This record gives sequence, C-alpha cells and structure tokens, in this order.
Amino acid sequence: MGFLKAKGVVYKPVDEVDLGPDSDEFYIRANVKAPRMAGLLVKVFAWFLESPIFGGILLYILKRNNLIHKLVSFAELQESPLFVPLHPHQGIVEKEVKCVDPDMSPPEKVEEAVDCIQSPEDLPKSLQLSFRCWTILDYARAYSSGETTPTMVADRFIANVRESSSRDLQMSFFINLYEDDILKQATESTLRYKRGEPISVLDGVPIAIKDEIDCLPYPTTGGTKWMHKVRQCKNDACCVNRLRSCGAIIVGKTNMHELGAGISGINPHYGAVRNPYNRSKITGGSSSGSAAVVAAGLCPVALGVDGGGSVRLPAALCGVVGFKPTFARVPHDGVLPINYTIGMVGILAATVEDALIAYAAISGDLSSNHSGSAVPKIGLPLLKSANYLSWDIKMARYGKWFDDCSDNIKACCSSAVAKLSDKYGWKTVEVTIPDIEAMRLSHYLTIGSECSGSIAGHLEKLNKAELGWDVRVGLAVYGSFHSHEYLNAQKIRNRQMQFHNKIFSMADVIVTPTVGVTAYGIEDDALKTGELDYINGAALVRYQIAGNFLGLPAVTIPVGFDKSGLPIGLQFIGKPWSESLLIHIASAVQALFMSGNKKPEVYYDMLANAKD
Ligand SMILES: *[C@@H]1O[C@H](CO)[C@@H](O)[C@H](O)[C@H]1NC(C)=O
Ligand SMILES: *[C@@H]1O[C@H](CO)[C@@H](O)[C@H](O)[C@H]1NC(C)=O
Ligand SMILES: *[C@@H]1O[C@H](CO)[C@@H](O)[C@H](O)[C@H]1NC(C)=O
Repeated sequence: MGFLKAKGVVYKPVDEVDLGPDSDEFYIRANVKAPRMAGLLVKVFAWFLESPIFGGILLYILKRNNLIHKLVSFAELQESPLFVPLHPHQGIVEKEVKCVDPDMSPPEKVEEAVDCIQSPEDLPKSLQLSFRCWTILDYARAYSSGETTPTMVADRFIANVRESSSRDLQMSFFINLYEDDILKQATESTLRYKRGEPISVLDGVPIAIKDEIDCLPYPTTGGTKWMHKVRQCKNDACCVNRLRSCGAIIVGKTNMHELGAGISGINPHYGAVRNPYNRSKITGGSSSGSAAVVAAGLCPVALGVDGGGSVRLPAALCGVVGFKPTFARVPHDGVLPINYTIGMVGILAATVEDALIAYAAISGDLSSNHSGSAVPKIGLPLLKSANYLSWDIKMARYGKWFDDCSDNIKACCSSAVAKLSDKYGWKTVEVTIPDIEAMRLSHYLTIGSECSGSIAGHLEKLNKAELGWDVRVGLAVYGSFHSHEYLNAQKIRNRQMQFHNKIFSMADVIVTPTVGVTAYGIEDDALKTGELDYINGAALVRYQIAGNFLGLPAVTIPVGFDKSGLPIGLQFIGKPWSESLLIHIASAVQALFMSGNKKPEVYYDMLANAKD
C-alpha cells in the first residue's frame, strides 16, 4: 500500500533534546481513536480483523489513526536498536543496605530481610491505624506463640475462597486451587512449628501465584483454555521454588487477563476478577487475581508478572503495594515465554515490609558463578535505622505528564508529593521526558510482536473458539506488525534509555501517579466477550512503560482514595538496580499515608481469633 505511505516523524539526535522544564518538546496526549466495544460489537470487529482483505485495510487504518505509523513505523532515527534492556552495573553505591551474599539460601536471605525491618510494635504511638492488615511477621508470631496453626489458617483460607466464589460475590480470584494440596503443605508446616523448627518467617504463610508462572501440581493456563494442553508444566518456576524452600504455603493459581493480552482483568473463561474495594469495578491486570487476593486479606503476598504494568497497575487499583525489580533481578525461568524482553516477575504485598521479605526470598542470580554475573549483589534496605528519612531525595517530575490523569488522582498525587517535600525535605526536580507516547506505542508493538512470535506455532493448530473475543482482536493486531516497525521500536527503546539515564543524572527517582484513572465499572456486556477499551487502557498504562520497556525497577504505594472510595497509588521509577533505594522511599511514603488506609468491602480477617 505504498500509495498510502504515511509520513514519519524525524527525531532529533538525543544530545540536541532539552530535558529541562522549559523544553519545547511537545507532550502528546494519548489520542486513542477507538470506541469502547463489548458484546456483539467485539465479535464483529474480530471477524473483520481476521478476514484477509478487510482485516489488512482495517489494521492499516487503525495503525495510522493511532499514530503508530507516524511516531514509530515510518519514523526516522539515528540510534541503533536496543533489543534487551540489560543494564551494566559498575560502581553502584547503595546507602544503608545490608549486602547479601549471593550464595545464601532463600531462608537465610529472608532472615537478613527480617533483620532490616522495624517490627510493628516499634511503630510510633501516633500511628494508631484504623485498619491494619496482617503481615508476614503477624503470621509468624501467631504460629510461634501457638495462637493459631498453619492448618487452621489453611482451613480458614479455603472456606473464605469458597465464600468469595459464591453466587453473591463471584470474585473470581483463582483459576485453579487444590484444597488437598494446600492442606498437605499446611500439615507439614504445622508439624515444623510443633517441633519448634520453622524454616523461616514465611513458614506457613499463604502465598498465591499468577497463573502465568509454573507451579506444581497445577497446569499453567496463562488465563487461556488451551495453553496448558500444548505446554506442560513440569517444574516449579525458580521464584516459586524459592518461596517453597522458605516454607510458604502455595495456595493456588490466580486469575489473570487471558494471555496477559489486556489489562482489565475481565476473563471470559474464568470470570472477571472483582475489586475488593468495590465489587462492581475491575481490578486491572493482567495480574488481577494476585492484586485482589492481597487486597482482600487472603494472602499477605502474591506473585505476578509485569509486562506492561501488569503488577503495578492492578496493585494501584486494589490499594496494595506493587513492586517490580530491575530486569533480570529475579530469574525468569518457569514463566510463560509470551514476551521475554519486557515481562518480569513482580511482587504484590499488603505492606512494603512484606514486599521486601518476598523480594529477599525470590531475587538473585541462577548461576553459581557470581564473578561473571550480569546481576549485581542484592542490598537489602535497612529500614529500621530511620536515617534514610533525612536523605536528600530528588524526585524528577514531568508536570504535563504527571497531570495527565483524572482530577481526583492529580489532586491526591500532587498533594502526596507536596507532603513528602514538607515532611522529609525531598526536592522535586522539574524535567521533560520526551516522546512518552512514542515509547508507549513502541512498547505495544514490541509486546505484540513477542507475544505473537512465541505463540504463532500454537495458534495455527488452535480452534479459534477457544480464544476470548477481545484477545482475538489483540492477536490480529499483534500479528500485523512488520520487522521494520519492530526495529524502529527498538531504536526508540535505545533513545529512551539515553533520555532516562540523563534524567537519572539529575534526580534519584522519577515520580508519577501509578495510573491515569481509578478502577472503572465492569459492564455486563463484557463478561462473555471481554471488552476493548483502549481509552481507559491507555490511561491505565500511561505511567508504566519505562518499567518494562527499559527494564527499570519501580514501586507503587497506596496514598489515598478517589471520591468514590477507590484506591490511588503513587509510583516511583528508579535507576537500574536501585531496588534498595526504592524500598526505602516506599517505606517512607507508607509511613506517611498508612493511617489513611481503609478496609475493603470484601475483606477476610485471616488471623481473627489469634490474639493480636
Ligand atoms: C507479557 O508478559 C508479561 C509477563 O511475561 C505479562 O504480564 C503481560 O501481560 C504479557 N503481555 C502480552 C501482551 O503478552
Ligand atoms: C460501588 O460503586 C457503585 C457504582 O459506582 C456505587 O453505587 C456503590 O455505592 C459502590 N459501593 C461501595 C461499597 O462503595
Ligand atoms: C565465571 O565467569 C567469568 C566471566 O564470565 C569467567 O571468566 C570465569 O572463568 C567463570 N568461572 C568459572 C569457574 O566458571
């Protein structure tokens, strides 16, 4: 279709771009031209896209109207492509950390992490919380003192999940959960406590796993009806294995957006995951169930995978902590290979301390040869020494981008940043981050190409009826990207990496709202077909992309609620390998905002009768 060839942007060399606050770089608001579709409309749209002739034309028009052609496909750039966001790590100096010996076992690392944490009893009296959820240390204490046992907790867990799946609630938290397997693990853990030999503070603690991560004895469905039939789960993923070796009870495989190819968390096969803060709202995704079970109090921690904000955005929508380490920090083996240069394992937790404990358990290199490792040693942040509260943290803020969200979020996140400056003396550095929309589109193109590349072989043999309609649309778009578009996207990756490195020479972190909108409603017409809502979708991923496309670590912490009582998160994006600083920051933020926490509409008190 050469006669339709669109003109592409000619990008300036990186060195000529001004990243200061008065830069003349233009902020492009995501100009999504696609109406919300659900029900019959999605089906018709999928048929058209899949038809050889109409499909080609329609895809061309979609890509042109949504600026993909202009900003990516036909753009001219001088940078060379960068395919994998691996970061060199010479000379990283971290303050107030406990360095962990790479040869330590996961339980030993967990012990080190616990040693870094202030115990809840030390919290200043002024922090009398109206609502406090149970943490890993609460479980460990209740088990050690004999107030309750892992078996009693497992029984309660099973009863609560049954109730959450009842007709009245239909929370759809899990895809698979085997009660016998949970009880067996709990019995073993209970015996360990009886003998006075728990393996670590994680012994007996319920942890849920996104159904994109291999975990025996479960199949790995990836939220689909077919993936587990063509790809058998033969082992635990490395991260699951490490949690198990600490004594954690693996309590099932959480629901997710089918194939991770969307972010609403509405799964036509396994149900729409409902938000514990309001059952009529989405959880976001794709790690939907993992965010929801933590918010609902069923587990203090769950694992997710973050390919386009898939851990941080549901965490923000459900009012929990979402933490995504640097690319390659947590081994990726045993995770569905649907997109390998952007997806990574992340942690959803009720508190920053619990995120830290889980991080200590799962992170670290696979190889035993650490001298040649691509991953630096893990430093665990010493949270109990309050020295970091007086650090002179510089937060980079790009005003036009920061403010491109709903009024409630803008007001809440701006006041949170102001409060951080006020209480801790942290400084805001105004910057410009160019071409954010081009980065979002490039990431979409990359995730799409990687996903369709890795499942193309299966798709040919697949009965289309086994796929959800919204995913059929997604896959049709994914399959339409060409190699020249993919290459241009990787050049934009390189360019953005350079911009971000420059920003990080001016500031310690980048601060943003986590998402552009709070949880929106689940409409009935979406339940069977899924829905296409690219406008809300773009708002949900607006601040997520650098974390995936550039492999940067990032964390979201709850800082308030909108006027309908739905949670709002604040995000910090860090320099490569700066997990320890990010956790320090998250902990300082939590200390300021935790007192505003509210109990969700659907909440299970797992340690209710165990004395506090
Ligand atoms: C990509 O993979 C990540 C995890 O690997 C997942 O969270 C995300 O939803 C996936 N997206 C697509 C489009 O495959
Ligand atoms: C949930 O949201 C609906 C629709 O916005 C609202 O009518 C209802 O009161 C909310 N429920 C709670 C518990 O806030
Ligand atoms: C470890 O890795 C380094 C760098 O890749 C290499 O030079 C060295 O020989 C390796 N050592 C062993 C024991 O494999």
